[in-house]
Amino acid sequence: MDFPADLPTRVARARHVIFFTGAGVSAESGIPTFRDAQSGLWSRFDAAELATPEAFARDPALVWGWYEWRRMKVLTARPNAAHEAIAALAADCRVSVVTQNVDDLHERAGSKVCAHLHGHLNRPRCIDCGSPARHPAGIPAVVEDGARIPPPTCMKCGGMVRPGVVWFGESLPPADWQAAMEAIGSADLLFSVGTSSLVWPAAEIPVWAAQHGACVVQVNPQPTALDEIAAYNLHGAAGCVLPALLMAARTA
Ligand code: APR
Repeated sequence: MDFPADLPTRVARARHVIFFTGAGVSAESGIPTFRDAQSGLWSRFDAAELATPEAFARDPALVWGWYEWRRMKVLTARPNAAHEAIAALAADCRVSVVTQNVDDLHERAGSKVCAHLHGHLNRPRCIDCGSPARHPAGIPAVVEDGARIPPPTCMKCGGMVRPGVVWFGESLPPADWQAAMEAIGSADLLFSVGTSSLVWPAAEIPVWAAQHGACVVQVNPQPTALDEIAAYNLHGAAGCVLPALLMAARTA
């Protein structure tokens, strides 16, 4: 794979690298992205319309069923070559993973995640009292057919349990946001990987990193709004581009 001539050296010389990731980094693990067409009966639904407090209030079993379907996909998936390359780079320099993803594939590849900006599939909580809730052990028996599954009830107050993710219109977790801001303060290189760069405020992170002097490299098969800001746009799949680039950096 060919890269701009100076890029492997830039990566090799970086002292603190942020990987700002979105759904595309997990696509090669078989986890559907948000804005690509959904599969099966879920193709009738727009992901952005299911991921709102209003949708959960209107039809909790539909929204819970959709997240259980995603959780089942994640539980049966494995980290791919992109997750693994990101984890491996931490042996060479400081790496901060700032992800919009609600899966745990970065962690399972061996990365310590600095910020889960949009929450986590595995951290459901009571919608009323906020107590953490637990999923039953094992893989949820969800078939790919848009099944409604009633959400469980809170052990403490009997309220309805909601997914531990950040929905449209909700605030990002302050500690995760703060950790991302601190990382920007010292990063000299930021990779934006597999995100459409459409959802704010997360999409501001690469922009601020560039303003702060970091070199921004985008890895995405499709153009995005970040193309104009990124110093390098690598149009390819993360599972191909990242291992090849990080290998080239090792020998640069
Ligand atoms: N490698 C790299 N990028 C890929 C790959 C791949 N193999 N496959 C797809 N992509 C890119 C797509 O081209 C697209 O630009 O990943 C991006 C996925 O975009 P979205 O589905 O919009 O996902 P994301 O940017 O993470 O969405 C942000 O929106 O719905 C909310 O909270 C949700 O965190 C999510 C947020």
